[in-house]
This record gives sequence, structure tokens and C-alpha cells, in this order.
Amino acid sequence: MQTLILRREQVSAGPLILVDAAHPWHCGLTPDLLAPDPRWPDILLERRAAGLLAACIEAAGGRDGIIPVSGWRSRAQQQEIWDDTMAREGEAFTRDYVARPGCSEHETGLAIDLAAAAARIDFIRPDFPDVGVCAAFRRLAARYGFIQRYTQHKQACTGIAAEPWHFRYVGAPHALLMQKYDLCLEEYSEFIRQQPRCCQLNGRRRAEIHYLPCPGETVTVEMPDGCCQLSGDNQQGFLLTVWRDLR
Ligand code: DAL
Ligand code: ZN
Repeated sequence: MQTLILRREQVSAGPLILVDAAHPWHCGLTPDLLAPDPRWPDILLERRAAGLLAACIEAAGGRDGIIPVSGWRSRAQQQEIWDDTMAREGEAFTRDYVARPGCSEHETGLAIDLAAAAARIDFIRPDFPDVGVCAAFRRLAARYGFIQRYTQHKQACTGIAAEPWHFRYVGAPHALLMQKYDLCLEEYSEFIRQQPRCCQLNGRRRAEIHYLPCPGETVTVEMPDGCCQLSGDNQQGFLLTVWRDLR
């Protein structure tokens, strides 16, 4: 057992941070970034997400059929996309498909827009159809820790229209639970807060997920021995994931 003291500002770090219009990301730090595919060196993702995205595209047979279109964006780039889309497409379209600067999860390095390979690709709304390698990617995504972040039936919750091309890295047990219980990221923290949850991974390991509120400036956590991960939720606390071997 190890005792950790977490500071309030750490709530805005980790793969489970919720970033949306009601939960801006104030962190201001550039994440540790890597290109998931060296053929597109300007498309960057947070290091762990980049490795898992590359592995998922490979497993889906999409090495030549899936193109990464937009990964990490600086605040200034998000502002430029917002201004440009506003000028070209107007306010309703922009609010549906572009997050306000400071409220885009692209700024965290945890979000990627993907397109089916084509001669022309729409930067704001790339085509990522539910057929072929794109469908294969979508089927595998949760196992590699990715969720389709914006779906039509959750628009009231996310504030963004359906974006079949936008995937968000959250980590495998969380993506699998969100898929199983049909939860968007806005709903996930509260789901864990209600009670600790379990997720079995590939028959050999089980993840237990606990919620740790951080009502004050710090919170003390007793970390169990073995493999653990902590992530802030960019709201009121942290999610602690503990992996246990089943054998
Ligand atoms: N297209 C998503 C919502 C973004 O701009 O972050
Ligand atoms: Zn996106």
C-alpha cells in the first residue's frame, strides 16, 4: 500500500478528463505528444493514445484505408478553426460541430478525427462510414480504449452533433463500460461515483474502478499494491483503476 496526496489541480489531468462547454480545460500544458503514424508527422496525440490508435488501426486492417485528419490542437488552432467555420458555415453549424476554444478535447491530445482514405477529405466533417476498415476500427475501438465521443442520441448531453469520425481515448476498461452501459463521458464519472464498477479484460485481468471526491485542496489516497492508474475527471475528483490478475 502506498499513500499519495493529490492536489486539486491534478483533477484536470489524465485520460478520463471531461472537456466540454460546461467543463473547460484550464490546464494550459502541452501534453506529451507523438505521431500515431509517421506518414502524417503533424497529426499528434498524447503518447499512450497514439500507440493504441496505431495498434487499433493495424488490427482493423486500416493502415492504408484510414487517415488521421486532426489530433492535438493548440488553443490558437482551435480558435482559428472556430473563427473560420463561423465565417464559412455560420453559427448553428459551428456550435454543432466545433467546440469553443478552451472546451475542445482536441487540446488535450486525447481526441482524433479519422477519415476513410479518399482524394478529398472534409477537415471539419470527415467521412468515416460504417463499412469496411472504418467499421472494423469502430468494432475494435473500445478494446483499445477509444470511444466514439459524439453520437446523435447523446447530443443533448454532449452539446455536439453526431461525429462518427471523432474518437476519444479514455482507456480500455472505461471505453468497454461506456459501450456496455451506453454512457457518454458526461455520464461516466457519476456512474462510477454511484458505486465501484468492474470490467473484465480478455479473460485474464479485471479492472476495478473507484471514485475519489476531492472536495478540498488535497485528497489522500491509499493506492493498493499492483497495477493502478489515477485520472482526474476535470470536475470534482479522481477515478482510481486497479487491475487484478484473475489467475
Ligand atoms: N469537433 C469537436 C467537437 C471539437 O471541435 O473539439
Ligand atoms: Zn474531433
